[in-house]
Amino acid sequence: MTLVSDPSAPRITLVGATGAVGNTLIRLIEERGFRYRGISLVASARSAGREMTVDGRSHRVHDLDGFDFSDTDVAFFSAGGSVSEKWVPTAVAQGALVIDNTSAFRMDPDTPLVVPQVNAHELDRRPASGVIANPNCSTIPLVRLLQTIEERWGIRQAVVSTYQAASGRGHSGVAELYEASRISLEDHEAMGPDEEFTPSLAFNVVPSIDRLLDNGFTFEEQKMLQESRKILGLPHLDVTTTCVRVPVVNGHSEAAWIECHNPVDREEIVRRLAALSEVTVHDEVTVGAFPTPRTAGHPDHVHVGRIRVSPQNPRGFWLWIVADNVRIGAALNAIQIAEALTERGVL
Ligand SMILES: NC(=O)c1ccc[n+]([C@@H]2O[C@H](COP(=O)([O-])OP(=O)(O)OC[C@H]3O[C@@H](n4cnc5c(N)ncnc54)[C@H](OP(=O)(O)O)[C@@H]3O)[C@@H](O)[C@H]2O)c1
Repeated sequence: MTLVSDPSAPRITLVGATGAVGNTLIRLIEERGFRYRGISLVASARSAGREMTVDGRSHRVHDLDGFDFSDTDVAFFSAGGSVSEKWVPTAVAQGALVIDNTSAFRMDPDTPLVVPQVNAHELDRRPASGVIANPNCSTIPLVRLLQTIEERWGIRQAVVSTYQAASGRGHSGVAELYEASRISLEDHEAMGPDEEFTPSLAFNVVPSIDRLLDNGFTFEEQKMLQESRKILGLPHLDVTTTCVRVPVVNGHSEAAWIECHNPVDREEIVRRLAALSEVTVHDEVTVGAFPTPRTAGHPDHVHVGRIRVSPQNPRGFWLWIVADNVRIGAALNAIQIAEALTERGVL
């Protein structure tokens, strides 16, 4: 039980409590024994009135429209960028510290963008904006590995291809993948629904995530560049990406080619990555020993395998990365931000 009467424990509000990230936040609060003095669950009018269980107690879901944040110490927003743009300023004005899972405030100069394993020092004081942003789900596992590589060898360029699961689009993305798969299995010519993923994701891969920008990149690809630079404090870091949606239910993967300024040593890469907190290196060189979204293991670890230094270029090497996008890429990172704030007495 993590509901406590301690007046120093925070009162929490979860906006988007009924969604994939919101549900996972609830499970993580329970699993990690995150101490709170009160909890409010908030979603749209569609879910208002529904009952949800936290720590064995039933809670009614409130409609965000008209919700009063003045009894909230920390509000987690996981209901989409436009919802955050509209309601985060209200929550802050009413006194809540906001941890935002959307892209709405990530590049705001007054808003720290935090991966606690990388830049927890950003949490030493309450930010001027009243908001702490949670980075993009593919950026989080990548920067957790890049930091030690940058410190040791200096990164000249990282070229990354992502393989992103349907759950990155929340409950409706997963539902659409199952429905489209069912339709395609019954009729191999039929494509199935394509509202969340265009064209349909069943038995397909879609090399376009989020909106297309004028320069030909997608917003998802731009986020990985800009957010990596901000988190690592490297304004000239060269990260170039192709973001691809694949018909996987949950768990994003990334193939990363990293070229450094100095020659690298494979054993030292393995040793350095294995020493990182909550990172598992899968270094057995046998088929099937590499991590995959369904078999990687601990859902709260970043999994790395297939570490290969190029025979043609002693400065370059490949990593294969797998991480749970809903946990590591959103809810877990957000809870770890809240835990770090509590440890520092900021919350
Ligand atoms: N899924 C991931 O891997 C992931 C990773 C990183 C970041 N994120 C971000 O986290 C956010 C939530 O994603 P998700 O995957 O949890 O999506 P989801 O499963 O579709 O859930 C969306 C949640 O937002 C609520 N919502 C939608 N419109 C609302 C409105 N107008 N007012 C109040 N609540 C509203 C929904 O409530 P109802 O039940 O009432 O519809 C639901 O609780 C998104 O911004 C997403 O980009 C997701």
